Amino acid sequence: PQNASLYFKRSKIEHICFRDHLLDTWYSSPYPEEFSKNKILYMCEFCLKYMSSPKSFERHQMKVCGAANNHPPGVEIYRDANAKLAFWEVDGRKNIEYCQNLCLLAKLFLNSKTLYYDVEPFVFYVLTEIDEQDSSIYHFVGYFSKEKLNNSDYNVSCILTLPLYQRKGYGHLMIDFSYLLSRKEFKYGTPEKPLSDLGLVSYRNYWRIAIAHALQKLSEDIMTNANSQYYISLEIVSKMTGIKPSDVVVGLEQLEALIRNKQTYEYAIVIDKKKVNEIVDSWNSRGYYALKPELCIWKPLI
Ligand code: ACO
Ligand code: ZN
Repeated sequence: PQNASLYFKRSKIEHICFRDHLLDTWYSSPYPEEFSKNKILYMCEFCLKYMSSPKSFERHQMKVCGAANNHPPGVEIYRDANAKLAFWEVDGRKNIEYCQNLCLLAKLFLNSKTLYYDVEPFVFYVLTEIDEQDSSIYHFVGYFSKEKLNNSDYNVSCILTLPLYQRKGYGHLMIDFSYLLSRKEFKYGTPEKPLSDLGLVSYRNYWRIAIAHALQKLSEDIMTNANSQYYISLEIVSKMTGIKPSDVVVGLEQLEALIRNKQTYEYAIVIDKKKVNEIVDSWNSRGYYALKPELCIWKPLI
């Protein structure tokens, strides 16, 4: 149409006020009409309720939420008291309103269609920072959602790091956590498609590093058990990481570790130890928090 710009006009919500920060929104999100006509939405970082004025936000903090809520609903399934980080598991069926608020918030930073209201088939894993001064306060950082019953390999439906906390390694941490859950379920996982541009760069980076890490470990095992025979296969790397074999291929290609025999056309995995070590070291040198699987108290429902 001639007036395409009008047709694609984004909703009026240009900013959200979150933990005393004013954040720019990226895309529109289907908030109820009386809220989507506001330029700024005020959000409670604990229950994710949205309000149209600082006044109602203040009242919410003082009276409604206040001391009652200082963390996400659900169960704390990971806590690193030293690093001051915790993961929470929130059931979409038990905490419908919270999960709907979460999805509406995520849509402000996602271009693709996501779910907003039909949250019951999903579980939400919320990453929080534990307050420096008061360790009973948990600040919302980001989340990923996961379908409860699924016959596909999807282990992440939607993932978000709030822009306030992006590029600190939290996306990587949540992805790592999602694969830890898959390994606990004895499954291979993969994110739901299509991936956003940022989702794709984050996952490609994750696969490269997680697989470099696995190859490093495999080569150490081979060196220390020089007499035993070792085969490295896609399946072994998948089992170690929880990453679906077709995504392992993507990671191996980035590491240039997949070599094709010119005569037999068969592929082989070749470990360039120097390269693999460099990649792992360079990631570690960023100083991001590394997941400690032993701190995760989650068990799959069987
Ligand atoms: N530009 C370039 N590289 C990036 C970027 C970026 N904006 N974001 C992540 N990466 C790569 C980098 O290699 C980065 O390492 P570095 O920062 O040391 O260079 C690495 O990924 C890890 O980045 P994190 O800091 O762990 O990622 P972050 O916490 O910023 O979260 C996420 C990534 C979740 C994708 C975030 O950008 C986001 O919430 N985006 C909006 C929502 C979205 O698009 N979600 C994915 C949709 S697809 C799906 O849900 C299955
Ligand atoms: Zn609240």
